[in-house]
Amino acid sequence: MGCHFQLVATLMLLCSVSAVCAVNITSVLEGFSNFTMLNTLLTATGVANEINSKSSFTLLAPDDSVLDPLVKVLNNTVPVEFVTNILRYHVLLQYFDIPEIKTIVNSSGELVATLYQTTINAANLNGFVNLSLESSSIKIGWPVTGSPPNATVITNLTQSPFSFSVLQIDRVLIPIGLQTSIPPSPSPAPAPSPSLAPPNITDALEKAGKFTLLLRLLNQTGLASALAAKETGSGITIFAPTDDAFNALPSNALASLSDAQKKTVILYHVLPEFFSLTQLQSLSNSDMQTLASGSSGKFTVNVTSSTGIVTIATGVDTAQVSATLVNQAPVSVFAIDKVLLPPEFFHHPGPSPAPAPAPTPAPAPAPAVPAPAPIPHVTPGPSPFILSPPPPPPTSTPEAPGPGAGSNDAPTSVFACNLLLAAALISSSLLL
Ligand SMILES: *[C@@H]1O[C@H](CO)[C@@H](O)[C@H](O)[C@H]1NC(C)=O
Ligand SMILES: *[C@@H]1O[C@H](CO)[C@@H](O)[C@H](O)[C@H]1NC(C)=O
Ligand SMILES: *[C@@H]1O[C@H](CO)[C@@H](O)[C@H](O)[C@H]1NC(C)=O
Ligand SMILES: *[C@@H]1O[C@H](CO)[C@@H](O)[C@H](O)[C@H]1NC(C)=O
Ligand SMILES: *[C@@H]1O[C@H](CO)[C@@H](O)[C@H](O)[C@H]1NC(C)=O
Ligand SMILES: *[C@@H]1O[C@H](CO)[C@@H](O)[C@H](O)[C@H]1NC(C)=O
Ligand SMILES: *[C@@H]1O[C@H](CO)[C@@H](O)[C@H](O)[C@H]1NC(C)=O
Ligand SMILES: *[C@@H]1O[C@H](CO)[C@@H](O)[C@H](O)[C@H]1NC(C)=O
Ligand SMILES: *[C@@H]1O[C@H](CO)[C@@H](O)[C@H](O)[C@H]1NC(C)=O
Ligand SMILES: *[C@@H]1O[C@H](CO)[C@@H](O)[C@H](O)[C@H]1NC(C)=O
Repeated sequence: MGCHFQLVATLMLLCSVSAVCAVNITSVLEGFSNFTMLNTLLTATGVANEINSKSSFTLLAPDDSVLDPLVKVLNNTVPVEFVTNILRYHVLLQYFDIPEIKTIVNSSGELVATLYQTTINAANLNGFVNLSLESSSIKIGWPVTGSPPNATVITNLTQSPFSFSVLQIDRVLIPIGLQTSIPPSPSPAPAPSPSLAPPNITDALEKAGKFTLLLRLLNQTGLASALAAKETGSGITIFAPTDDAFNALPSNALASLSDAQKKTVILYHVLPEFFSLTQLQSLSNSDMQTLASGSSGKFTVNVTSSTGIVTIATGVDTAQVSATLVNQAPVSVFAIDKVLLPPEFFHHPGPSPAPAPAPTPAPAPAPAVPAPAPIPHVTPGPSPFILSPPPPPPTSTPEAPGPGAGSNDAPTSVFACNLLLAAALISSSLLL
């Protein structure tokens, strides 16, 4: 059962006796005419459900005039997960009303955890905001000493003490880390043409010098150009095994695979979405689809991070990220110390120095691909963020595939992504 925002007295009763106060943030926001965009986004991303499950929270609410321009820029250029995390950054995991903030916070500021923090590595403070007072107005900024505060609290929209509170703010808050992935300025002013070209994957691997075997495979399979074609929209993340990693394989391991299977193994090293190093370091236990995922098998990898060390487990072997070669939206390339062996083709090696893990004969021929064109069996990853009224029904997982697969977003995305890069460079001093 939901608590309507007008029934404050009832709500306080309910909340004082139950562990979880069942607020329906959707119906609370429906009481305010200028917050329809926020309400739509919260529902579309599933963040509304996350909010409703909290026993106490404060929603920092930008109104339509603040959100609209940003949404127009973001629309269809970033994965839905970015938008989800930006929204989560607007949910403080405690109740705050204006008088309370003014008593517990001074000009030195106070760090407060947001819902976003619950989704990232606990050692990383990027999910906190810094609440501070500046001549009696409440400012909100990054948890970085010396960074200027960004948003200002305008007014209290509604509150139910120690349960929930909705405070209107004058800016959209973008967490550190996501800042490098989206343009911070909502003004889509015609910019001078971006000078940063998208990274060239082949070049990067050649420059790094320890990837001749991977480069040879990319060349043989014709996948180099197919991967370059993915450098738009939600982008890609490539795990690049070093020559040492390939040399450590039993000599017949890859040789006995068919050409189609070799392609699948390469695509098994590519996530259909850009992850920066920071984002990768915040994953834990994530079962992730790869570009190889499709009808012939799951081909997922398990990405986990602990104290900054990123591991990728296949069920057959486990690799570690050993270096970052490219970390520039929408492309990242990470060196790994093992070749990722999909369980669909390889058995788990026994404890004794076993003979080569012979590939199991694939019952159905693995992806038959017309090279070098479209990548086979590409399962679209998290969809790019597309806002189209009316919103899709709320889904239980924010990453649930939505409409569209991001094949039509190339020009705007490339442009947007280059803007971001420029913006990221400009603001990089703030990050450190
Ligand atoms: C919350 O309220 C909205 C609109 O008022 C309604 O559509 C939705 O079903 C409610 N959600 C829950 C969980 O009760
Ligand atoms: C809604 O926004 C418009 C334009 O920004 C403003 O004129 C109006 O007063 C606002 N309404 C309320 C209820 O805040
Ligand atoms: C703000 O409060 C903290 C903790 O209460 C205190 O240490 C600090 O000196 C205060 N800063 C100012 C500028 O008053
Ligand atoms: C918090 O904000 C205040 C005011 O801008 C600033 O002086 C302080 O350094 C910030 N603290 C942190 C940890 O970000
Ligand atoms: C805060 O505002 C400054 C300029 O006003 C901008 O450069 C910076 O990117 C903003 N940071 C966030 C988190 O929005
Ligand atoms: C806003 O806060 C003031 C002071 O705490 C309070 O009197 C008022 O009722 C609040 N307004 C709303 C809409 O909650
Ligand atoms: C990357 O660089 C290589 C060699 O420098 C070149 O052959 C290839 O066309 C480039 N790829 C893209 C997508 O520009
Ligand atoms: C790629 O293969 C072609 C022949 O298929 C060859 O001419 C070329 O040198 C190869 N490039 C690299 C970088 O191995
Ligand atoms: C992923 O790896 C972690 C840590 O190794 C493990 O605990 C977890 O069970 C794995 N999850 C899946 C889905 O394989
Ligand atoms: C977002 O993009 C989709 C298609 O790309 C379009 O249908 C929709 O109207 C756009 N929404 C906004 C708010 O611009």
